[in-house]
Amino acid sequence: MSWSRTNEIRYKGFQEAATPAESPVADVPEFCHRRDFINPFLAAPLLATIALVKSITIGISGASGVIYAQRLLLQLEASAEVGRINLVISGPARRVMSDELNLTATTDEDLLAQLIGRASTKTVFFHAGDIGAAIASGSYPVDAMVIVPCSAATLGVLASGAARNLLHRAADVCLKEERRLILVLRETPLSLIHLENMLTLKKAGAMIVPAMPAFYHKPANLDALVDHFVYRLMDHLGLQHSSATVWHGDVMKVE
Ligand SMILES: Cc1cc2nc3c(=O)[nH]c(=O)nc-3n(C[C@H](O)[C@H](O)[C@H](O)COP(=O)(O)O)c2cc1C
Repeated sequence: MSWSRTNEIRYKGFQEAATPAESPVADVPEFCHRRDFINPFLAAPLLATIALVKSITIGISGASGVIYAQRLLLQLEASAEVGRINLVISGPARRVMSDELNLTATTDEDLLAQLIGRASTKTVFFHAGDIGAAIASGSYPVDAMVIVPCSAATLGVLASGAARNLLHRAADVCLKEERRLILVLRETPLSLIHLENMLTLKKAGAMIVPAMPAFYHKPANLDALVDHFVYRLMDHLGLQHSSATVWHGDVMKVE
């Protein structure tokens, strides 16, 4: 059952409980029958659910590896712990999407549908040029942001603090509000400037998670390779996923 459907049912039950005729508790004081009375026992699961559901911003910049963003979006779309995804894509990222994933949509809705293979239930698309969008403000609640893949150019902009578009600004907001910001840098080799920018951002509170997929789980194909990395991102977002990413060692190989 989807997150919104679960909440809808909980909320409905919570509302209906305030109606005397339909109240599951027949013998309750009169004040409990008032429409504005909040039964703490019925409200608790609702409030707990709201607190657990996260709002995540995904920024896609113009580095190679847009498949990481695609696979992460699919996971977050399916996650009951994620209530809303804010998506912002840079201009160069659209070019890379065309080159790497053959996505040629002309509208944002089509691009998103092509990315995840169907219409989204919880992703809200923001234009990179829309500097007045909700995610540009620290007052707008967002739990975490991931820039995946993160180009060296975007890394440099963030390290300098000179945000030029909504993707940069949303990340800058995460830093100043001390929210989790994960940068999946994709570039090689790394210049001194890249390394210093990474260090600057790490010191400022960002988490640097370079696009370095692992091979110890013996991925059968490209999706398995990418998904393992995506699950590690979900670990750092505090989200559950279906796969084991914890390496327990191999006792047979211990000398
Ligand atoms: C096909 C393609 C692949 C690219 N791969 C990378 C990359 O892996 N890392 C990187 O830093 N830039 C890469 N670039 C260059 C960036 O797209 C370019 O620096 C751009 O200005 C980044 O802008 P943005 O950070 O605003 O998206 C690539 C460009 C193209 C067209």
